[in-house]
Amino acid sequence: MKFYIKTYGCQMNLRDSDSAAALLIEHGFTPAEGEADADLVILNTCSVRDQAERKAIGKLGFLGKLKRERPWMIFGIMGCMAQSRGTELLKSIRHLDFAIGTDQIHRIPEIVEQIAAKHEKTASFDRASAETPGIDSHRFDGAESPHSAFVSIMRGCSRYCSYCIVPFVRGPERSRPMDSILAECRTLAAHGVPEIFLLGQNVSAYGLDNTAPPPDDAPSPFGELLKGIAAIDGVRRIRFTSPHPAYFTQALIDAFTQTDKVCKYVHLPLQSGSDRILKLMNRPYDTAKYLSITDRLRAAAPGISFSTDVIVGFPTETEADFQATRALMDRVGFDNAFIFKYSPRKGTRSAQMPDDVPQEVKEERNQILLADLERRAEAANKKLVGQTFELLVEGPSKRNSARWSGRTETFKQAVFTPDPAHPVQCGDFVRVKIVRSTATTLYGELIPAEKTN
Ligand code: SAH
Ligand code: SF4
Ligand code: F3S
Repeated sequence: MKFYIKTYGCQMNLRDSDSAAALLIEHGFTPAEGEADADLVILNTCSVRDQAERKAIGKLGFLGKLKRERPWMIFGIMGCMAQSRGTELLKSIRHLDFAIGTDQIHRIPEIVEQIAAKHEKTASFDRASAETPGIDSHRFDGAESPHSAFVSIMRGCSRYCSYCIVPFVRGPERSRPMDSILAECRTLAAHGVPEIFLLGQNVSAYGLDNTAPPPDDAPSPFGELLKGIAAIDGVRRIRFTSPHPAYFTQALIDAFTQTDKVCKYVHLPLQSGSDRILKLMNRPYDTAKYLSITDRLRAAAPGISFSTDVIVGFPTETEADFQATRALMDRVGFDNAFIFKYSPRKGTRSAQMPDDVPQEVKEERNQILLADLERRAEAANKKLVGQTFELLVEGPSKRNSARWSGRTETFKQAVFTPDPAHPVQCGDFVRVKIVRSTATTLYGELIPAEKTN
């Protein structure tokens, strides 16, 4: 049976889709090119904003047409919207065969085999522990090793930010045992994967499951994990997403800045630059605390780069609140950020407040922040011209395949023309000197003599 998985949402969903694919292959299924030549199609869904849900529902409608031509096809949904609305969707969408929750990935092969035999709609939404057998392993079946691998270090989230549906759909925080994470990283390194990308909704709270934010002088299990992974031979770069500012203690700052392999780039979700709005969002830090983290990190690692998430148009957000966000973003100097227009989610605390910022105002604030970002990114990248960086090579550039593309430690995309005498491969490290830049891309010249591996 051929399968195709379409993924919406965040990196956690990408990782879950990979786990599901690996499991299906283990059970004798083969990957299809796309949905049209698949016998099994699974949508891995996201609920974080209304738009994310609408996309998947639109796709499900389209898949119904496909089923008319290929009546044997099996359709399923997994992921966050499946967890929250699976029962309702199974009832209302005739061609939907199964819906499984965010902790039920390990059951996919068995459920699909049952449906193929009995044609009965199936649902499974139970919660599991932090580890489910089989789904943390990566596949190395002769295919080229990736240059970077996602490693999930915890499930769920217990923060209950007032706007956010994630704790409801992903369940409470459950950290994986450190030994098991280290073993997975060792396997990846042994297969030549140079970069480990740690995933969790609240990675700075790794090992502190369901506890209130610690004082600034508390120990940091996440910091210990970073040190443990950095000690593995073959691991060259470590990245992670997303840490929560309230758990970013001094011990974590120390572990971060003193561990060379940990990339000097932090995606640190801010959400708002107004202390009043942060309170309403149930984000237990204020702007002073946020700045104290970014300032301490920058003092210890001067070339560091930050990105963030910001929501515009949260209930009651005034022009003054918005301007405070703008000013704070400028002060930190983010040259990358994800800006979201507030979208009320059923069952969350803020959904009980009136969604009182008009859509046009949300749109306008969104555009203003994007323009600010572009201006800052352009200026920041210009300053890098003339400097030399080590890149982890990711492959031929999408726009022009004669050029190759890679990332700096600070997660900036840089392109360069390879030297035909020294062919490069995905996963290599090269040094380039930046000769030109735009707001989104650095253009570099290869320094072949210093090729580092
Ligand atoms: N765990 C991560 C983020 C997960 S969701 C963290 O805490 O940073 C990714 C981003 O989506 C959030 O950071 C937030 O900016 C945005 N988001 C979450 N719920 C939203 C909502 N109801 N409306 C708009 N944006 C939302
Ligand atoms: Fe959502 Fe907040 Fe948890 Fe992030 S920390 S997933 S924004 S509840
Ligand atoms: Fe979406 Fe679930 Fe990720 S709601 S953002 S896919 S955790």
